[in-house]
Amino acid sequence: MSLNLDSRQRAMLQEMGVQVWSPVPQPASRLQPALTAAAESVAPALLERAAVAPRAASTPDGAALELQPRGAGVESMDWPGLQQAVAGCRACALCQGRRHTVFGIGGLPAPGADQPPAADWLIVGEAPGEQEDLRGEPFVGPAGQLLDNMLRAMGLDRRGASATGDARAAQGCFIANVLKCHPPSNRKPEGEEVAQCRPYLQRQIELLQPKIILAMGRFAAQALLQDEVAEVHSLPLGKLRGQVHRYHGIPVVVTYHPAYLLRALGDKAKAWADLCLAMQVRNGPQGL
Ligand code: URA
Repeated sequence: MSLNLDSRQRAMLQEMGVQVWSPVPQPASRLQPALTAAAESVAPALLERAAVAPRAASTPDGAALELQPRGAGVESMDWPGLQQAVAGCRACALCQGRRHTVFGIGGLPAPGADQPPAADWLIVGEAPGEQEDLRGEPFVGPAGQLLDNMLRAMGLDRRGASATGDARAAQGCFIANVLKCHPPSNRKPEGEEVAQCRPYLQRQIELLQPKIILAMGRFAAQALLQDEVAEVHSLPLGKLRGQVHRYHGIPVVVTYHPAYLLRALGDKAKAWADLCLAMQVRNGPQGL
């Protein structure tokens, strides 16, 4: 793949720790001071919110709410109906510990009151972490900062076109997770939780009709490709990336989860190759 990078993309690669113009390896600690400083700057506010934010799904006397089967008809809900269904979901025990559901964010302003935002790109992560649970927004912690940088390198922004002034931001990008509730202690999602939550993601995709989906990490890849790739649950992520899969006809590119990339700096170059592949799929051969 030829990489004719402009200055914005070169700056992004530098930010990701990927060297394209110099054989000297990037020090592993390069990104860390910025991430640490950013985390420290938001920590007091988050702690304050943690102290006051009640658990969302408890009764007034603090008892855990009873579970209820997921309501019928998710597959025919409109966007506001789906948002409400997620906000009130009690289909699995994660509702009992959450502060906020995390529906997703991004895209360009909806064309009508009941319509989803316009988004050519859908980014799918795993599940909300602590900070996302507090804020009700996906990818707001350190992994989210890396994700924002990756999106910026592609000319995309969760806040829409006006944020970057880059024409590609007008494509719109929506960020969602497989799970809409935070698993305690950031543990991995369990099969039953994914099974309960997956219909929400499926309906989000039906309504958004993205032109391309970027699956970040193993759980996103498995949730999206379980009907397309027979052995998806046993394949390592490395075997799923580097090719274009399909979810109901929509191209899916699999890449590493940003939280993993924060630990495995050496794989950032591969992640950049995945983003290049996704841009080529979305924008054509000249799309880099
Ligand atoms: N990791 C995810 O997969 N999603 C988030 O929203 C935050 C961290």
